[in-house]
Amino acid sequence: MLLALLFGQIALGGLVAGSRAGFVYNTWPLMDGALMPGAETLFVRPAFWENFVDNAALVQFNHRLGAYLLLALALWHMVSMRRVAPESGGAKRATAISGLVIAQSALGIVTLLLVVPLWAGLAHQALGFMVLAMGVVHVTRTEGAARG
Ligand code: HEM
Repeated sequence: MLLALLFGQIALGGLVAGSRAGFVYNTWPLMDGALMPGAETLFVRPAFWENFVDNAALVQFNHRLGAYLLLALALWHMVSMRRVAPESGGAKRATAISGLVIAQSALGIVTLLLVVPLWAGLAHQALGFMVLAMGVVHVTRTEGAARG
């Protein structure tokens, strides 16, 4: 689930970069003065589905939501792994993933607040790749361990 959500979050990040949605609503945690902008902002385009790919407000808001969900799931996964087998490699990897997701979220916020300087955009993209690599390693190793 974590890996699937991470794939989705990276795709949403691609939409943010592609539609230059990081150059607007450069505040956090508020966006357009609220935690969640109003429907008149998020669904400004007449075609409902178009908003998900071509409306900077919804594109950016979905990427924020994805990060919160991912962070919650990563922390929950870490706590449950550490409870079952605190010294296992799986628990250590789950902890590393939580740390990477926290760092990636913080970097995403900095990128947004600074209105996407090139170094921050590139660093956020590169760290995203590292989170994905760690997630893939974790899934393959933990599955292998479960099969014995
Ligand atoms: C773990 C959570 C996150 C992951 C895995 C992630 C992943 C990504 C990726 C891979 C991209 C680059 C896409 C590309 O260049 O093709 C991206 C773009 C972006 N993300 Fe995130 N992100 C996360 C959290 C956040 C958060 C919390 C924010 C801010 C509230 C944020 C703000 C941005 C912005 C502004 C861009 C566009 C940068 C640009 O225009 O080059 N991200 N994200």
